[in-house]
Amino acid sequence: MSFDLSSIPSQQGKIAIVTGANTGLGYETSLGLARTGMKVILACRNLDKAQQAQTRILSQVPSAELEVIQLDLSKLTSVKTFAEEYRDRHSHLNLLINNAGIMFPAYEQTEDSFESQFAVNYLSHFLLTSLLLDLMPNNSESRVVSLSSNAHKFGKINFEDLQSENKYSSVEAYGQSKLACLIFANELNRKLQQKESKILSICAHPGVSETELARHIPSIIQFLLRLTPLPYMSHPPTQAAQPTLYAALAEDVEGGTYFGPQGTLEMSGPAGQAIQSDMAQDEAIAQKLWQISEQLTQTNFDPKPPH
Ligand SMILES: NC(=O)c1ccc[n+]([C@@H]2O[C@H](COP(=O)([O-])OP(=O)(O)OC[C@H]3O[C@@H](n4cnc5c(N)ncnc54)[C@H](OP(=O)(O)O)[C@@H]3O)[C@@H](O)[C@H]2O)c1
Repeated sequence: MSFDLSSIPSQQGKIAIVTGANTGLGYETSLGLARTGMKVILACRNLDKAQQAQTRILSQVPSAELEVIQLDLSKLTSVKTFAEEYRDRHSHLNLLINNAGIMFPAYEQTEDSFESQFAVNYLSHFLLTSLLLDLMPNNSESRVVSLSSNAHKFGKINFEDLQSENKYSSVEAYGQSKLACLIFANELNRKLQQKESKILSICAHPGVSETELARHIPSIIQFLLRLTPLPYMSHPPTQAAQPTLYAALAEDVEGGTYFGPQGTLEMSGPAGQAIQSDMAQDEAIAQKLWQISEQLTQTNFDPKPPH
């Protein structure tokens, strides 16, 4: 399976939203999409950082069509405002890249009383997708791409304590949130297929890449990690964004698939099919998580049949 961005036909006229587009993998994904001629909406919480990213992309792709709309995934109100603003400005959406994420922060509840990783990485993306899906044309080039991680493999959906109120482990909560992203991608695809929709829901993970994701890890541990073989097994963000770009743009992609790097332990290497844990494919868990997510976000997320 090989993927060369320059072989992708012009995507002019199409629109993509990338959450967390200002840095790391979201930035690289936005840059890649801009190179194809697609208009990219940089959905970021910090407008200054978003504008800096816009300037950087324009310096590499002067013809890039970019737009910034503020989105703070730690607030459901911000997700709703973002969706309203997007719908006011645009009549269609071709790609939704649910990329933004945080890893291993100290315990924090969002203003909606959710554990922060569960809210930012998963629940707000669930709501965002539900508010925008009907803008997608009914064809297989319309795609929702969710970002998971190798960390999903140690994740469990702890239905007894979804918001880690009784006991918090930042590592377990990250694993849970990334497992939830993969379960969501699979369940959304099943629901789309049941409705005979051609829109695809796909998941991707980047392997390991040195971005700002480690910002919540104490600097001494970051220093010690640099002494392990880990840095040699990782790859730069440009390459780590390839599974996402593959899921978003390659012609031979099917819904419900999962892409990641093909090297040792899926940490680096070219994009290809990735391995999902058993729990990620468990339909009963997926249905339960979907129902709870609807309740928590006060949404009825039932993808409509194609019109
Ligand atoms: N890097 C890896 O090795 C790795 C491995 C597996 C999976 N992933 C996944 O890849 C995705 C991107 O991670 P990354 O490595 O690129 O991390 P990153 O460099 O830290 O970028 C994360 C992005 O998410 C944004 N973000 C954080 N909180 C947000 C919020 N409340 N509202 C809106 N945006 C928010 C950040 O914005 P600010 O700059 O304003 O904070 C930033 O743009 C994540 O979903 C992560 O779980 C990464």
